[in-house]
Amino acid sequence: MRGIILAGGAGTRLSPMTAVLSKQLLPVYDKPMVFYPLTTLMLAGIRDVLLISTPRDLPQFQRLLGDGGQWGLALSYAAQPEPGGIAQAYTIGADFIAGQPSCLILGDNIFYGAGLRHLLGEAAARSTGATIFAYQVTDPQRYAVVALDGDMKARSIEEKPERPASSWAVTGLYFYDAGAVDLAANLMPSARGELEITDLNRAYLQRGLLRVEPLGRGFAWLDTGTPDSLIEAAEFVRTMEKRQGFKIACPEEVAYRMGYIGSGELATLAGKVGHGPYGDYLRRLLV
Ligand code: G1P
Repeated sequence: MRGIILAGGAGTRLSPMTAVLSKQLLPVYDKPMVFYPLTTLMLAGIRDVLLISTPRDLPQFQRLLGDGGQWGLALSYAAQPEPGGIAQAYTIGADFIAGQPSCLILGDNIFYGAGLRHLLGEAAARSTGATIFAYQVTDPQRYAVVALDGDMKARSIEEKPERPASSWAVTGLYFYDAGAVDLAANLMPSARGELEITDLNRAYLQRGLLRVEPLGRGFAWLDTGTPDSLIEAAEFVRTMEKRQGFKIACPEEVAYRMGYIGSGELATLAGKVGHGPYGDYLRRLLV
C-alpha cells in the first residue's frame, strides 16, 4: 500500500506565519506538523510515501525528511504547482501509486487515540472500496459532512454544506483501492475550480463501496487551520506528553516500535538530535 501526504496550499488563514514557511512545517508543540500525518501513515504499516507540496516549500520538506531511509521508509516528493484540490493528489501521484491501493492523509490533520493503530491496520487490509473516518464536531459546516443511517452506512456526503445533514465531519484520512486513480481522472472541477475529494468519495458511495468508520469519543481529531486551533492542538499534545511522558507522533519512536529500524539505528538518530528534551526522550527509549 502506498501513502500520500498532501501538504500544499497557501496557508492563508495562518498568514503571516506562512509567509515564508509551509503551514505543515509550523510547530505543533515540540515537532513540525508534518510529523503527525507521517506517523499516522507509519502506524498503518505504510512505508512508501509520496509528499506533495508547493514548488516553494518542497526543498524544506526534503531537508527535514530526506529520503526517509533513517526511519526505514521510502519517501518521494512531487509538486502541486497550483492549488487544484485534494483529489489532484491522485493525478499527481498516479505513477507513484502504480496500480496499488493507497492512503491519503492531509498534512494538517492530527489523529490520536487508543486503538488507532488497529483501525488503521484494518482499513489498510481491505483491498476493495474506500474507507473514510467520521468524527462528531460542533461546527460540521467547516468540513465534508456525511449522513449516516442506523447501521452507520453513508447515505450522502457533502462538502462544506450550509445546512449540515449531521454532525459527522469527514476527516482528512482516506483509504482507497486501486481504482482511485481512474475515478479521480474522471472528476470535474467544482464551482471553486478544484478537484474535490468529496466528489471522489461520492463516486465510491454511488458504487456502494464507501465504508465509514466512526471515530468515537476516545479519539482526538485535531485541526490546525487557524491560529486558535493550532495552539489548541499544541496544548493538547503538550498536556498528554507531559502527563504520561510519552511523545505523540515521534517518527523515530514509531519506526523503532514498528520494527522499521533497530536499536543501533535509533541510537544513531538520538545522537544526531543531540541534547534537549527530544534527544533525551529517544535515548530513554533504548534503556
Ligand atoms: C478539507 C476537505 C474536507 C475535509 C477537511 C478535513 O477541507 O475538503 O472535506 O473535511 O479537509 O480536514 P479544508 O480543511 O481543506 O477546507
